[in-house]
Amino acid sequence: MIKKGIILSGGMGTRMSPLTKAVNKQLLPIYDKPLIFYPLSILMLAKIKDILIIVNKGQLSQYKKIIPNGDRLGIKITYKEQNSPKGLPDAFIIGENFIGKENVALILGDNFFYGQFLSKKLLDCTKLKNGAKVLLHRVTNPEKYGVAKVKNKKITLIKEKPKKFFSDLAITGLYFFDNKVIKFAKQLKPSRRNELEITDLLNKYKKINKLTADYIGRGGAWLDTGSLDDFYKTSTFVSAVENRQGFKIACLEEISLLNKWVGKKQIKDSIKFYGNCEYSSYLKKLI
Ligand code: TTP
Repeated sequence: MIKKGIILSGGMGTRMSPLTKAVNKQLLPIYDKPLIFYPLSILMLAKIKDILIIVNKGQLSQYKKIIPNGDRLGIKITYKEQNSPKGLPDAFIIGENFIGKENVALILGDNFFYGQFLSKKLLDCTKLKNGAKVLLHRVTNPEKYGVAKVKNKKITLIKEKPKKFFSDLAITGLYFFDNKVIKFAKQLKPSRRNELEITDLLNKYKKINKLTADYIGRGGAWLDTGSLDDFYKTSTFVSAVENRQGFKIACLEEISLLNKWVGKKQIKDSIKFYGNCEYSSYLKKLI
């Protein structure tokens, strides 16, 4: 079972400037909570309790105000700073000591997942023993994403932002790797845009025939909140689901309670921490 997870929560957020000039993108609100809650909730749903959050140099104190540590959630949170956005595989170089000899999951801080059977799928993915696994989702505009062609759950081709159509399966920002990922990440050379590329890392696994895929499926939603438009679309989606169904998406305390990682005491601590707000009222109802 994969027990460790990394959230890559830095980046320049260029496409969302000026919103991201003073505040990191992952601290901006998706409807009623900061964006970072959503990827964190996904790792928690995968029963991953040991989590490294990588943030931009200089932004650590802001993150610690909202997620000081994992105590109230019954999880362990470690922070590390990234000096500059050197690319997604940099997560495994920064996270080398954190990962140690284990396997690891990586989720991008700006990725939103939601759907029926998602928890079960996530738990299945954490069973990975060797190789790498990515989660794919069908999109109507594959030219905007990293795209994969699949045969019998094995990936046969990946291309970043393909100009010519060959598949509509986008590679989402949630990945599961064996421990070789550290070695492979260190072997990568920066691309033309001077970043280490996740496609190059995945290709290393493809070369040794160890790159597999799973699907979020029709019942699921995946949104990459990188652009302003996607950001607000995601907010609208969350608001629609929460207000219609009366439960929250990505309420971290609720997931901890359901996982039996915390009891009433920690929920009460959280209510005190957040203060008198709608989120706290929801927590009160849980206990
Ligand atoms: P990107 O979408 O590539 O970058 P960004 O979020 O900074 O946005 P923009 O392109 O508008 O400048 O990053 C995807 C996610 O990964 C995002 O959550 C930021 C994070 N990230 C890092 O934390 N470190 C990095 O080196 C990179 C490249 C991304």
